Amino acid sequence: MTQILRIKGGKPLKGKVKISGAKNEVTKLMVASTLFDRPFYIENVPDIEDVRITADMLRRMGVDVAFRPDKHVIALNATRMSKHEAVFGEGKANRLSILLAGPLLHKFGKAVVEKPGGCRIGERPLDLHLYYLKQLGINIEEDDYQISLNGKLTGGSIEFPYKSVGATEGALLASVYAKGTTVISNHANEPEIIELIKVLQQAGAMIEYDSEGRIKVTGVDYPLHVDHPIAVIGDRVEAISYFAAALATNGDIIAEGIDQRHIFTALAVLRRAGAKIDITNERIRVSRNGILLPLNVETDPHPALATDFQQVIAVLLSQAEGISHIHETVFEHRFTYLEQLNKLGGKFTVSTDCKPFKDCRFVNKNEHMATIKGPAFYHGGEAEITDLRAAFALAMAGLLSDNVTTLTNVHHLLRGYDRVIQKLQSLGANVELEES
Ligand code: EPZ
Repeated sequence: MTQILRIKGGKPLKGKVKISGAKNEVTKLMVASTLFDRPFYIENVPDIEDVRITADMLRRMGVDVAFRPDKHVIALNATRMSKHEAVFGEGKANRLSILLAGPLLHKFGKAVVEKPGGCRIGERPLDLHLYYLKQLGINIEEDDYQISLNGKLTGGSIEFPYKSVGATEGALLASVYAKGTTVISNHANEPEIIELIKVLQQAGAMIEYDSEGRIKVTGVDYPLHVDHPIAVIGDRVEAISYFAAALATNGDIIAEGIDQRHIFTALAVLRRAGAKIDITNERIRVSRNGILLPLNVETDPHPALATDFQQVIAVLLSQAEGISHIHETVFEHRFTYLEQLNKLGGKFTVSTDCKPFKDCRFVNKNEHMATIKGPAFYHGGEAEITDLRAAFALAMAGLLSDNVTTLTNVHHLLRGYDRVIQKLQSLGANVELEES
């Protein structure tokens, strides 16, 4: 079955949108359930493919998983987990298999994990994951498809050379039961990581920060569990996506269910681009303050501007009069979608030269610097979705065109945006998912 997203734009996005639970938290909590000796309940679960892919992998390991997308809840019970292998179903993959290394090693003293998939936005090596596992005393063998691990998890010193989200989460999941103390420095601090730490602490884990900001985990020898349901935080990428779309289309959106603290920097960037932002405890409203302004921005680990926001910001800046730049410093190959936007009328170019920004890991090697000439007039047509966040950016180009835009590879969009078609329709967009 082929799915096509058909968009007839030309109308501003207006209205209220309820932000769903964060994709990049819920799947990590699902993995964390394998550390618990009692059933674990998660609320505010988004109805996205990534949850299904993770649920499927956990079921193969013997975890009982009951997902009720209509109620946004999931129940997990790992007490009968019987297999030490984390493998995906045929043709399905995300980043989560490697995070199961720690829990499986704790339970079985060995683990086999299929190499992760997910969006093709760079090489996405696993060296930092293998590094923390080695530091915790684990023996590792790998081939092209899987990683085999064995050993007894023992506390150690982990000094990451880069603030990797996944490796930080993996190190936490592997160290909560490790014998002795683990100290993790230069770790990532994304809101979803803080939530994971919160949940592990509620389960009984011993996690603290030392005076140098390092995470110190003291392994426990008693079983961990959380008896109350955990509600996932609002998805900050989803929120910024709708805000950028509202601004680009000259609309007016009120978002509920998103925490301002998780999007400080992105809100400041939107304000600099010309947004009027009105924030209360319950909701954030975004509309235009006047004309859109060109900007120079760069991505970096949280609390700087997230790499997952740059795609929708690129389309937003394409509507400003003048030249903008986006310097992508997290993934070396995250601008392939610009070619697709250019097919729809965008005026984007990419280069390996970071000027006017500071040099980064990718200088003169990878096309990680985008120049945006605005305003672009999107004229509709056909384009191919290249990855999850590019999906929303391409849909925005469709919303900005009076003509029809058709997008293929819609599975990328559905992997991470909960009920996106219904939400866009409720904001006045003429968007349909066609299946043939
Ligand atoms: C997480 O990916 C998110 N995915 C990504 O969201 C997000 O873009 C990314 O963090 C950065 O914020 C999930 O949480 C499932 P990283 P992750 O390890 O953990 C390099 C989305 O659209 N690196 O922080 O895989 C890596 O190549 C997705 O929702 C190594 O070199 O990202 C990259 O350059 C896409 N070796 C940088 O670190 C390693 O072993 C950051 O990657 C691991 C990472």
